[in-house]
Amino acid sequence: MQRDIQNIVILTGAGVSAESGVATFRGPDGLWEGHRVEDVATPEAFARDPDLVQKFYDARRAKLRTVEPNAAHQALAKLDAHWPGDLLLVTQNVDDLHDRAGSKRLLHMHGELNSAWCLACDERSRFDGVMADDPACPHCQQTGHLRPDIVWFGEMPYQMERIELALAQCDLFVSIGTSGAVYPAAGFVQSARHYGVQTLEMNLDPSEGSFHFHESRMGRAGDLVPDWVAEILQDI
Ligand code: APR
Repeated sequence: MQRDIQNIVILTGAGVSAESGVATFRGPDGLWEGHRVEDVATPEAFARDPDLVQKFYDARRAKLRTVEPNAAHQALAKLDAHWPGDLLLVTQNVDDLHDRAGSKRLLHMHGELNSAWCLACDERSRFDGVMADDPACPHCQQTGHLRPDIVWFGEMPYQMERIELALAQCDLFVSIGTSGAVYPAAGFVQSARHYGVQTLEMNLDPSEGSFHFHESRMGRAGDLVPDWVAEILQDI
């Protein structure tokens, strides 16, 4: 299969960061770090209780300083550095672990914890502080208008046209560490199949759309991804 592959699209989810100590979303208790998703990850929640939402994301942002990229992030960065064809790493993760591992052809479709979106001037700025303290927008200097640059439920993920085009033009779609519960990302495998693309899943357990993939490898991302990257780089 690998000999014919030139262009690759990779989708990652919370499972790729689990071994770094970042909590996944759908734990056995159905809660995300003690909160129901609709209390912290919707525009309605932010309108109702901005302080709770800001503090929730401030805590997630602060946590980033205590975690490091793992072997899966590092292997994907190595693939990015060496792969001669097109490659697009689409992550649903809002952490910065792919960035810190060195991935360059990277797109954060659900936003980033280290980005602030100013609702006054509509600019996005790098941000690693505390938003609940109501800091000034680094761009327009107004206070009281920053929100986490996170795509909440009910909002449109970023750069969907670019992702769809990359899926149409790739030869291999790889999904890593995602439960396949949240659309549109969960539907990328079906788009890929529609375009005749080879599909591979690597996850701890079968995702909701597991049956769509040509091949599923079950295990920890930190074990599976370095092995797969070594395999595919061997063939170039
Ligand atoms: N290696 C590989 N897979 C793992 C590992 C691991 N070490 N640990 C957990 N997993 C798998 C789980 O089995 C699960 O299928 O990763 C998946 C994580 O699923 P979710 O917690 O649902 O995370 P994700 O799919 O990224 O969620 C998608 O939902 O809440 C929204 O916007 C949020 O981006 C997020 C989206």
